[in-house]
Amino acid sequence: MDGLSILFSAAQIAARVDALALEIDRAIPGDFVMVGLLKGAAVFVADLARALDRAGARPEIEFMRLSSYGFAKESSGTLQLLGDVPAGLAGRPILLVDDIVDTGRSIAFAAAQLRQGGICDLWICALLDKPQRRGVEVAIDFVGFSIGDVFVVGYGTDYAEKYRHLPYIGTVD
Ligand code: IMP
Ligand code: MG
Repeated sequence: MDGLSILFSAAQIAARVDALALEIDRAIPGDFVMVGLLKGAAVFVADLARALDRAGARPEIEFMRLSSYGFAKESSGTLQLLGDVPAGLAGRPILLVDDIVDTGRSIAFAAAQLRQGGICDLWICALLDKPQRRGVEVAIDFVGFSIGDVFVVGYGTDYAEKYRHLPYIGTVD
């Protein structure tokens, strides 16, 4: 696509997602629930769930939606949950899944919402991690790729709602 440089190809992502699924299957005991953050994590959750099946896991799938960036490239600071925390999660092992951890505010906020519901065991998985950008401390248990301070699109991630459909992850020139 014009103006995009490929950072991770579809094949590179698929290989990493398979490896992540094996790691997750080894680390999380029993039947866990994946909770993806919409919309960015939708594509990753769909692929990770099927990779987890190949790894021998049987995850359930839920989603939560946080207030979005709108048209900015950076999170607005005040976060809100749109809708409710999924029901029936108390006492279940949870794998919280997002596309990117940047400042860490979104994932920390989502984790706090889940913990308010009394969830005991919570793991966090992000396809992309930007450790240099961290503003709040948050431990990410499973990371697909660690990247620098670059803005990326594709494979679920967007810029102003565009590019989510791309099978690869790219940087906007
Ligand atoms: P944080 O709250 O600053 O960690 O931002 C995390 C959220 O911002 C992720 O769920 C992404 O949806 C979005 N985000 C962060 N960096 C990027 C990027 O480079 N491209 C697209 N979306 C991003
Ligand atoms: Mg997001």
